[in-house]
Parts: sequence; structure tokens; C-alpha cells
Amino acid sequence: MVGGSELTTILTPEGRSLSLQHFVGWGGPSVVQLMKRTMEILGTELTGRRVLEIGYGHGEMSSFFALLGAHVVAVDTHDVALPGAIAEATRWGVRDRIEFVVYSGDPREIRQADFDIAFSKSVLLLIPQLETFLRAISAKLRPDGQVAFIENGFHNPLAVLGRRIIHLLRRNQANDYPGVAMYNWRLPVYLSPARIDTIRNVFEVREVRRVESPHWYLIHGLKKTANKLP
Ligand SMILES: C[S@@+](CC[C@H](N)C(=O)[O-])C[C@H]1O[C@@H](n2cnc3c(N)ncnc32)[C@H](O)[C@@H]1O
Repeated sequence: MVGGSELTTILTPEGRSLSLQHFVGWGGPSVVQLMKRTMEILGTELTGRRVLEIGYGHGEMSSFFALLGAHVVAVDTHDVALPGAIAEATRWGVRDRIEFVVYSGDPREIRQADFDIAFSKSVLLLIPQLETFLRAISAKLRPDGQVAFIENGFHNPLAVLGRRIIHLLRRNQANDYPGVAMYNWRLPVYLSPARIDTIRNVFEVREVRRVESPHWYLIHGLKKTANKLP
């Protein structure tokens, strides 16, 4: 369990205390805990580093990385939440460190490259051709680039079926993205063990961490360099 402010806050390079709860936004203590671990791995001094946030949603995590000093390129497939994401970045005074980009969903279209870190939270479950997608993300990383994915992992078939039915009844709309049909009957497939293996195929996975909630995982990996490829 997460408890105590030292476990739920992160200090910026300037000594500003950031509440992970705010930036994580939803998902509760499990996600806060995984985010805390992510920052232990990545470090909290990101000045001058280039971060790609895949699926920025309402923009909180992009603002978080920017507050730690990173230059962030934040991509998403719809523009419904864009004004809110821009407002969030503006509120934190980091608008000039984030490029928000609405794109087709194919990472090959991202103009920028040479990222030190690619990050996603609750996005990979929406990607049908995961390996192709991840290989395109990998191509956007520097040779020593890293990935951190905090993703939903429902492994119980009944739970998956229940989620699919709920999404169907809601006409595949996501509550917090009005008008955006985010799901379909095949999705979300969630982070099955097979999907974790797909991530291993593409990246040199260093850590797979599951917290008390069975539904959240952190996967941290490194870009595979040519001489390490099988
Ligand atoms: C469940 S929301 C999570 C948003 C945010 N990361 C968060 O944790 O609050 C999934 C987000 O992924 C975006 N998305 C879906 N497919 C994507 C793709 N191919 N590339 C980038 N973002 C995508 C959706 O539009 C949506 O904003």
C-alpha cells in the first residue's frame, strides 16, 4: 500500500513537491505506487531529456515530466481533450516544454525522434497490432532509450468479458472523452501474458512489476541495440 507523503510525492530539480496522486489522475494507489517506482528507475532529474508520451489523455503526465525538466512530445489520436491538456500544461507553467500532437495512431508519423524515454499509461490495451506499434516506437528512441508502460492487466477471462460488455453497452464511448469511440468488441485486450511477451520481443525488458491490484502493471525496458537483437 502507498502511505505517507514521501511515498506519494516527487521532488522536482528545483525542490518543488509534486503530488503523484494529481498527475496519475485515476487508477488509485496502485498506479501511484507504480509511478513512484517508475521514477526511481528513470530518475527525477530529466532536464534536457526528451520524453515521448503516447496517449496523453488530459495531459497530466506530460506536465509532470515537463516539470521534472524534460522536453515532452505528447501524442494522441483525438483532439477532444487537447484544450484541457493545454490548460493543464499552462497551469503548471510548462506549456513551452510540451508539444501536443494529434496524429493517426501510427508512430511512424511522429516527426520527432531521438527520445530518451517513451511512456504510456493505459494505452497499449487499445493497440491492435502491438508488435508493429512498439517497433515503430522503438525506432523513435535513442540507442540508450528506455520505455516505461503502466498498463491495465485483466487476465481473468470473465473480467475481460465483463469489461467488453460494459463498453458495448456504453456504445464503446469512453466516459471522459466525449464522443470518442475508444473501444470495440475485440478491444480492450488488456495486458495479457502474451502481450507482455510481445513487449519483450521488442524491448529488453528489465522489470515487470505487478502491484496489489491485479489490474495494473509497470513494464520497464531498454531499446534493443542491433548487436543485441536475436
Ligand atoms: C484510457 S486513455 C488513457 C489516457 C492517459 N494516458 C491516462 O492515463 O489518463 C487512452 C488514451 O490513449 C489514446 N490512444 C489510443 N490509441 C492511441 C495510439 N495509437 N497512439 C496514441 N494514443 C492513443 C486514446 O485516445 C486515449 O486518450
